[in-house]
Amino acid sequence: MYNELLRKEHKLAVIGLGYVGLPIALEFARKIDVIGFDINAKRVEMMKNGIDPSCELDKEAFEGCQISFTDSLEELKEARFFVVAVPTPVDEHNVPDLTPVLKASETIGKVIKKGDYVVFESTVYPGCTEEDCLPVIEKFPD
Ligand SMILES: NC(=O)c1ccc[n+]([C@@H]2O[C@H](COP(=O)([O-])OP(=O)(O)OC[C@H]3O[C@@H](n4cnc5c(N)ncnc54)[C@H](O)[C@@H]3O)[C@@H](O)[C@H]2O)c1
Repeated sequence: MYNELLRKEHKLAVIGLGYVGLPIALEFARKIDVIGFDINAKRVEMMKNGIDPSCELDKEAFEGCQISFTDSLEELKEARFFVVAVPTPVDEHNVPDLTPVLKASETIGKVIKKGDYVVFESTVYPGCTEEDCLPVIEKFPD
């Protein structure tokens, strides 16, 4: 998969383009084809115009990058390697709200194909990926 990504035979998608996801996506996009996916259409529009909605990166950070910003599931289907960087906020008892990672898992379930890879960059507790996210990914293929 690594060499296929480098040869641009496959695309990598970063899901959730915030403080963590956008710099990761742009760095990958210097070497390989990247799909930057976010559910927030307004943020997607800003990034298409070279603006970081989190106000961390300059316009130059977008230059020389092979990246397509989108909120479209259809476009996400072109990816074979998925990196999840959606938020995991905690409440006053430090209990994480898994809604974004479960929604992102649902999204991946709808587009994933045999042999694809998924990496969770979002902060989760041990076992969360296997016990909470994987069943959702497996449940949703078309
Ligand atoms: N692994 C690491 O090194 C590391 C370091 C710091 C933070 N984190 C973790 O990374 C995660 C992201 O944090 P952040 O500060 O970038 O968050 P953020 O709030 O800055 O950005 C989150 C982005 O995800 C988008 N989003 C939310 N739900 C989505 C969904 N279902 N599908 C697609 N996009 C969605 C939002 O629109 C937003 O653009 C958190 O879990 C954080 O704890 C990891």
